Amino acid sequence: MEIRKVGVIGAGQMGNGIAHVFALAGYEVLMNDISRDALDQALTLIDANLDRQVSREKISAEDKAAALARITTTLKLADLGPTDLVIEAATERETVKAAIFEDLVPHLEPHTILTSNTSSISITRLASRTDRPEKFMGFHFMNPVPVMQLVELIRGIATDEATYQTCLGVVERIGKTASSSEDFPAFIVNRILMPMINEAVYTLYEGVGSVSSIDSAMKLGTNHPMGPLELADFIGLDTCLAIMNVLHEGLADTKYRPCPLLTKYVEAGWLGRKTDRGFYDYRQDPPVPTR
Ligand code: CAA
Repeated sequence: MEIRKVGVIGAGQMGNGIAHVFALAGYEVLMNDISRDALDQALTLIDANLDRQVSREKISAEDKAAALARITTTLKLADLGPTDLVIEAATERETVKAAIFEDLVPHLEPHTILTSNTSSISITRLASRTDRPEKFMGFHFMNPVPVMQLVELIRGIATDEATYQTCLGVVERIGKTASSSEDFPAFIVNRILMPMINEAVYTLYEGVGSVSSIDSAMKLGTNHPMGPLELADFIGLDTCLAIMNVLHEGLADTKYRPCPLLTKYVEAGWLGRKTDRGFYDYRQDPPVPTR
């Protein structure tokens, strides 16, 4: 099946990156959010991130202009009706996602493929809330979307082969590489990454190291581009906690218990870069460790 028009639900960190890469690859993109401000901010950010690529000579000024011209925005979910592929990248809460799919489905054409950028929620369960579980799958991007090469493709129990092959073709067209995962809690990347981040928070909690020593040990000792605590701030500590809870509940193994210090940061509203404070305080440049 040929995909021409793509709907992106959610204009946050992931949604704006997804709109960016699809528009650059030549797809018509319709981005939806409940907030006009969020849509406007997303367009400003896409413009700035495209500029970065122009200044580093990754794309031309014409590519940038053409990509921006392919993105339109809407506050109405129903406007996504005539799209061929929908990627939901709303808040990582199952009730929110399920409500969006329930509102959206009556407006969709029968051929439209529905996907979710969820980082950990069961694709099979989300699919069961729609009228098309066989045309539903996980389409999981990494942050920052324009830079990271991977897309995890997750088949729910009912996803058919044609849907999977169509999504695989789309991943190739946007110039990324797919990795297929079965539908188990947190899939592949987060099943491995989040316990590492959680262990870094335990290492801090138990006083084995400071924020700086833990991050520089992992950066310089294992060649990671960011230390685990810096990366946690980049992803969002609320997202990290939500994924640990999905692992803990979904696999019923105490090895996935979220570190109480991670919970405390989230309770404080210190969610990382997006709130200017997490394991680092970003109100100062360079950021200062908060412990
Ligand atoms: N849009 C476009 N280009 C961007 C960009 C964006 N949002 N952010 C960075 N870039 C580009 C820069 O322009 C730069 O381009 P060149 O290579 O052409 O110079 C390149 O990316 C590197 O950026 P910087 O020089 O600004 O900074 P850096 O070298 O420190 O790299 C980073 C930044 C790419 C984020 C790097 O630190 C990194 O790879 N960090 C790890 C990121 C990671 O692990 N992401 C996955 C998180 S897990 C996830 O997302 C899944 C989940 O469900 C939680």
